[in-house]
Amino acid sequence: MDRAQGEPGRMAVDLGCGDGTETLQLLATGWRVLAVDQETDAIDRLVGRVPPVDRSRLTTKMAGFASVQLPAADLIYSGVSLFFCPPVDFSVAWSRIRTSVRSGGYLGAHFLGERDTWADFPEMTHHDAQSTRDLFAGWDVEEFVEVEHDRPAVSGPKHWHLFEVIARKR
Ligand SMILES: C[S@@+](CC[C@H](N)C(=O)[O-])C[C@H]1O[C@@H](n2cnc3c(N)ncnc32)[C@H](O)[C@@H]1O
Repeated sequence: MDRAQGEPGRMAVDLGCGDGTETLQLLATGWRVLAVDQETDAIDRLVGRVPPVDRSRLTTKMAGFASVQLPAADLIYSGVSLFFCPPVDFSVAWSRIRTSVRSGGYLGAHFLGERDTWADFPEMTHHDAQSTRDLFAGWDVEEFVEVEHDRPAVSGPKHWHLFEVIARKR
């Protein structure tokens, strides 16, 4: 499967979809998409942006990462989101995610590094490079990019330290 293109029937999950920019892109390239976010506003904004032609291929769920029931998916994307899951819930959320990706399917996500400003927040989950790789035991990690820079976040000045991972389940 070309990982950028949906094929008829292919199922993607956008976990922590926010305003749905990536969901809209997935729909536009032919995927069926389940968009998940814990905030009603995020889901409402997304639904308001979906072109009529794509609506029948979108399902939304207002739910948290650790409680959402995920379908068998060919792709799970979680952009700048998963690390908002509290450490106490992360292993449950991660286990659901790993299980839900079909064999041959992909997961693309950002993980918070240990030098990120937000790594000090106890309600957020961070990893170092090795523990991020360990999350993908038994998978093929196709891209593993470490990003580190100072750049403002919505909340103000911030040091970013992220791992961007694309991995394929065997
Ligand atoms: C920074 S936004 C990222 C939005 C989008 N994925 C992007 O790349 O622009 C993070 C999103 O994760 C959602 N979120 C945070 N914690 C969550 C949780 N525990 N369960 C579900 N969604 C959560 C927030 O509501 C927010 O919409």
